[in-house]
Amino acid sequence: MRPYLLLTAVLPLTQGIRIVQTHYNGWAEANLRTLFNVLSNSGHQVVLSAPALAYDSNRIFDEELEIVKDGCVHNSCPEGSPPIGANATDPRLNYVNSYTQVAVRYGIRAMGPRLWHGKKPELVLLGPDFFNALGFFQYFSPSMRAAMSVATNEGIPAIVFDGATGSPTPWHDPTPLHSKIYAELAADITSTIIRSGRPLLPPSTIIYVNFPSVTDRRCNDTSQFRYILTRNEALEINDDVGAFWCDATNFPFDTDVIARQNECFVAISPGDAIDAAESLAMSVQEEFINKLRPILSCLPEI
Ligand SMILES: *[C@@H]1O[C@H](CO)[C@@H](O)[C@H](O)[C@H]1NC(C)=O
Ligand SMILES: *[C@@H]1O[C@H](CO)[C@@H](O)[C@H](O)[C@H]1NC(C)=O
Repeated sequence: MRPYLLLTAVLPLTQGIRIVQTHYNGWAEANLRTLFNVLSNSGHQVVLSAPALAYDSNRIFDEELEIVKDGCVHNSCPEGSPPIGANATDPRLNYVNSYTQVAVRYGIRAMGPRLWHGKKPELVLLGPDFFNALGFFQYFSPSMRAAMSVATNEGIPAIVFDGATGSPTPWHDPTPLHSKIYAELAADITSTIIRSGRPLLPPSTIIYVNFPSVTDRRCNDTSQFRYILTRNEALEINDDVGAFWCDATNFPFDTDVIARQNECFVAISPGDAIDAAESLAMSVQEEFINKLRPILSCLPEI
């Protein structure tokens, strides 16, 4: 048994909750594993279930799962491995030889409950993905589709994280700076949502978060980032339904916020989980403002 003191030391401000994590580029990605470690170290019960391979599409149909013929991404499992597998020493780390949506569903229905005495996750986190998906391009993001399916079909709140910087990196490589920073920012947003109370997100909504680029020379420290509540540019503009926030009745576009290269702005776009092109009702926008208020900033005038 672990000493009691150690246990309380890793449960700081937030109470630990049950989280399933996934990544469309596979279970062995540095971005995914870094966030897994940060969340686990801060007291959450995290189970990872992600594709065996680093490819994806928006296909949602189920195929019969097959063995991993050529082995998993980054040589993370041998040739001919079973269709579903876990790390030999850590049952929290799982792959499924299928798409993000299928892998995350296994995590929610099978791997998570197996480790949590039959209980389901309270939250699903996707990413941090590579390349920002802004405006219209969000509709093509496999993570966005998976998040919408998690929220609508499984009834579990889901958040997608997406970073401008990043490329496929094996979990055992030295952790890149952007992976560390994105993981800390993602954990910060996650604990703000948890502290805001239940339901964690308004029913039938998701959050799509875009992080700006991180290099050695800019946005190299989490203290430099500011969180901005945004909306998707591809949404029909409907000024009638905009909640009043930051002296305006509509959130700024995610595209414009990420385009500001002089500072490190994170674009947080709440969205409808059933119809991605639908604007959120004013009362729902207000719920998001209230939930995220402790960390939000207003976008300064140019
Ligand atoms: C499996 O887990 C061990 C211990 O946590 C770790 O050292 C190893 O890199 C992991 N392998 C994979 C493929 O996740
Ligand atoms: C980190 O970024 C700041 C500018 O935001 C820069 O002044 C500083 O030199 C950078 N640190 C390193 C180690 O490059």
